[in-house]
Amino acid sequence: MSTSLQTELPHTELFEPTRVGSIEVKNHYAMGPMGPLGFATPEGGWNQRAIEFYATRARGGVGLIITGVCQVTNPADGVPPGLIPNPTQSPGLFMTTSRDLTERVHGYDAKIVLQAGAGFGRVITKAILGGRTPVAPSAIPYRWDPSITCREMTVEEIQASSSNSASPERSRARPDSTAFKCTPSTRLSARPIRHLILQSPYR
Ligand SMILES: Cc1cc2nc3c(=O)[nH]c(=O)nc-3n(C[C@H](O)[C@H](O)[C@H](O)COP(=O)(O)O)c2cc1C
Repeated sequence: MSTSLQTELPHTELFEPTRVGSIEVKNHYAMGPMGPLGFATPEGGWNQRAIEFYATRARGGVGLIITGVCQVTNPADGVPPGLIPNPTQSPGLFMTTSRDLTERVHGYDAKIVLQAGAGFGRVITKAILGGRTPVAPSAIPYRWDPSITCREMTVEEIQASSSNSASPERSRARPDSTAFKCTPSTRLSARPIRHLILQSPYR
């Protein structure tokens, strides 16, 4: 009888290396993005709890981690500062704490993709909204209470969130790659996203 976990399990391919785009991953185990609430410092960096959380998953053997979404500053959405990591609130801190996070995960031979987003739009939760009117690209029903109609974003608000989304902090943070989360109700022009992808030396 084999003493190896790999040969005892039927799906041995799950333990074989694979590739996701340009990223070599040591096995077929990937951790999906899950909102990093409680993982931010008041200035929008990753806190120590977050770094330990992801490092623990890497130590457990997961090959690829996709972080929960880090929201760039979007005044229309109004996510309170310090709730989730934010690449544009304090860019230097975000960059250094993201590098710490990447180093810890790499220490276990796992890969990490940093997910960023421009805002929640019509799917923002009531807890984050705190009684305010939700804001979306159009005056559409709020996802969690269709009797509420979202306020339509102004052109200035769209420009502000697009320009924040194009900030290069994510790639300077040196993850293995970056991903941009677009909820169905997040409006962005294609240009800043293209700019952002081109900025990343890790694409
Ligand atoms: C609590 C929670 C938080 C999530 N946060 C994110 C997120 O930050 N970014 C994202 O792209 N998806 C997020 N998702 C979606 C999940 O990554 C996943 O795509 C979704 O749960 C569907 O996968 P499943 O069918 O395996 O549950 C979240 C899901 C849950 C349940």
